[in-house]
Amino acid sequence: MDTWIGLMSGTSMDGIDAVLVSFQDNTLCIHETFSKPYPEELRQRLLLASQNHATPDEVGELDTLTGVLFAETAEQLIYNCSLDHSSIRAIGSHGQTLRHQPSGPSHFSLQVGNPSIIAEKTGITTIGDFRSRDMAAGGQGAPLVPAFHKHFFGSGSEDRCILNLGGIANITWIPSSSGRPVTGFDTGPANALIDAWCHDQTGRLYDEDGRWAQEGIVQQALLTDMLSDAYFERPAPKSTGKEKFNLDWIKTVVKRHGEIRPEDVQRTLLQLTVITAVRQMPQSPAMAVYACGGGTRNRLLMKELALALSPVRLLDTAELGLDPQWVEPTAFAWLARQTMEGKPGNLPEVTGAKGPRILGAIYPA
Ligand SMILES: Nc1ncnc2c1ncn2[C@@H]1O[C@H](COP(=O)(O)OP(=O)(O)O)[C@@H](O)[C@H]1O
Ligand SMILES: [Mg+2]
Repeated sequence: MDTWIGLMSGTSMDGIDAVLVSFQDNTLCIHETFSKPYPEELRQRLLLASQNHATPDEVGELDTLTGVLFAETAEQLIYNCSLDHSSIRAIGSHGQTLRHQPSGPSHFSLQVGNPSIIAEKTGITTIGDFRSRDMAAGGQGAPLVPAFHKHFFGSGSEDRCILNLGGIANITWIPSSSGRPVTGFDTGPANALIDAWCHDQTGRLYDEDGRWAQEGIVQQALLTDMLSDAYFERPAPKSTGKEKFNLDWIKTVVKRHGEIRPEDVQRTLLQLTVITAVRQMPQSPAMAVYACGGGTRNRLLMKELALALSPVRLLDTAELGLDPQWVEPTAFAWLARQTMEGKPGNLPEVTGAKGPRILGAIYPA
């Protein structure tokens, strides 16, 4: 077994999730986990930058500040399990996305969290910049977790859909027979909108257990309007982010509908997440859906998803041996391993890239 660290902060911008994990063939073992929330001031700066309100100076400073925080998170993780640094092969660090622009002639995906700082402070080889190479090969650069899902969550008898409920929701469809291709894409917003509206209206960072949404009623006309966004009809490959699904997006749609109670908007946003995820899923008689990501802790969201999916079963990835909170950081530890072993990390059938590519840039210890 060889031991790796995965560091992830997604579009929710809630903070950094870290895992220390060993891999062997098709099995993995998580030794330690740690989450570091972003300090509020930094979170606000990252949020503003992701909405295009940042100068090059600001982007540079954020790259350094988050790089330091990613490094400290890795250090804390190592300290907590009293492991020697030399026993860790490498760190896979996704970074914090400020902007994801997967199409057009000058496509790019911009993450901050300077991997040089992580390598320097920890003395451990660090792999970062996972998305660029796939994009250079004509892909979306996202989602990148499907290769990991396929490797560890595939089954010979059950068609499986992995549904990650982060800031954005993405699915990986893993058919039971190898003849059918794995597919995967971002279905649209999840916590990015749920958090944004909750914060704007109540000052709270997220709607714990979906309790506030529970007080509201789905507004059908508003929901229909939201569902008319062209993103949901677009065929895969596709990926999206907070540059599109943000508070401005909500306010633009809500403005068209007169007076609506804020809790009704919250409830409608939750339903939007449910419907867009379920509608875009491939269907098969022998399938089950396994959820992961922070959204699995939103009880109302999970309840409504189960209802919309029925009779298809909704479970979470703990049933497959991996706690829903740690799937994404573990995926980036595994992607780092793929890089170090000279193996591809993308699935071209998912991202639309011209072929399999070894992802990431290596920052030696
Ligand atoms: N108890 C909870 N109730 C409702 N939502 C929660 C809860 N815990 C976490 N979340 C949601 O999960 C999000 C973080 O999920 P995460 O998987 O880290 O997303 P990302 O990958 O985008 O960072 C939070 O922003 C919040 O919306
Ligand atoms: Mg997160």
